[in-house]
Amino acid sequence: MRILSGIQPSGRPHLGNYFGALRQYISLQAGNQPFYFIASYHALTTVQEPGLLHQYTQGVALDFLALGLDPEQSALFAQQDVPEVTELAWILSCVTPMGMLERATSYKDKVAQGISPNHGLFAYPVLQAADILIYLSDVVPVGQDQKQHLEMTRDIASKFNQQFGEVFVVPEPYILDNSAVVPGIDGRKMSKSYGNEIGIFDEGKNLKKKVMSIVTDSTPVEEPKDPSESTPYLLLRLLATEDETAEWADRYKAGGMGYGDVKKRLLELVDDYFAPARERRRELENDPGYVQDVLRDGGRRARAVAQQVMEKVREATGLPTLR
Ligand code: ADP
Ligand code: TRP
Repeated sequence: MRILSGIQPSGRPHLGNYFGALRQYISLQAGNQPFYFIASYHALTTVQEPGLLHQYTQGVALDFLALGLDPEQSALFAQQDVPEVTELAWILSCVTPMGMLERATSYKDKVAQGISPNHGLFAYPVLQAADILIYLSDVVPVGQDQKQHLEMTRDIASKFNQQFGEVFVVPEPYILDNSAVVPGIDGRKMSKSYGNEIGIFDEGKNLKKKVMSIVTDSTPVEEPKDPSESTPYLLLRLLATEDETAEWADRYKAGGMGYGDVKKRLLELVDDYFAPARERRRELENDPGYVQDVLRDGGRRARAVAQQVMEKVREATGLPTLR
């Protein structure tokens, strides 16, 4: 089964990205041959500083590898190493109705956030469809926020197949469990755009400051508290064993527990949980040649598939090239 997903290199990943997406991408490796790519062309719609875009792209590769992506099992690559996707995006844009793009909520959200819209931002879902279809992907694991983009991809694939013959696989989304929206330090959804995140690779004083500043209510120490409404508990349960989680729930309900206690334990848990990944990331940072080799090899594997599929697309559309 071909599994494919992409992540935009637009910042550093946080606990929400990890528990909401990255952890599942890594666990889906076993028994499959996934393609995971760094969506740098997509990031270019909003990140237009060359140094920064390059740095973030390398950063996402390091993050993936440090968190357990196995380059033997998965092809890890940067989007620009398969330039054929941009060719496919053009061809697909010719079977994409304007109305479909005008209804895209992520486009409308970004414009509402104050991002000044360029054509790339508007055409973003078509490039995403090209990313998915060019590898004949069967399953695409994504967060809930990408549901509409996947629906558009399926529509575009069907439209193309109807018009030009059955070239593309109509992919299935695999929507990751959204019941577990990870709260940030202010209690809202953890997100880079709210500045309320705890980074996967935060450590030392910085990590401590963030965990200790998690917002809690003003229930006095001696009184019972409701764990299901409390950010430190909601984060702790992602990291602690079931037994320990149950113990903390009991301590909340019994009263006599201060929020400082649970935050201290949470700090230890975050620190321990990601310590091996931090260590691995440091090693990888000192070995840029290895990371380049992984991306180059992943890019080659992905491009070989993309080139074969593009031959079929060109023939199907009446655009065979002379070689
Ligand atoms: P951000 O909101 O920080 O910009 P992204 O939009 O880059 O995050 O999200 C990348 C992936 O991580 C998405 O597929 C999304 O489902 C997941 N994700 C982001 N924030 C959270 C969260 N707070 N809880 C659970 N999953 C999340
Ligand atoms: N739009 C996705 C996001 O913001 C990133 C992405 C680009 C993607 N191309 C993709 C995800 C193809 C899955 C498949 O998270």
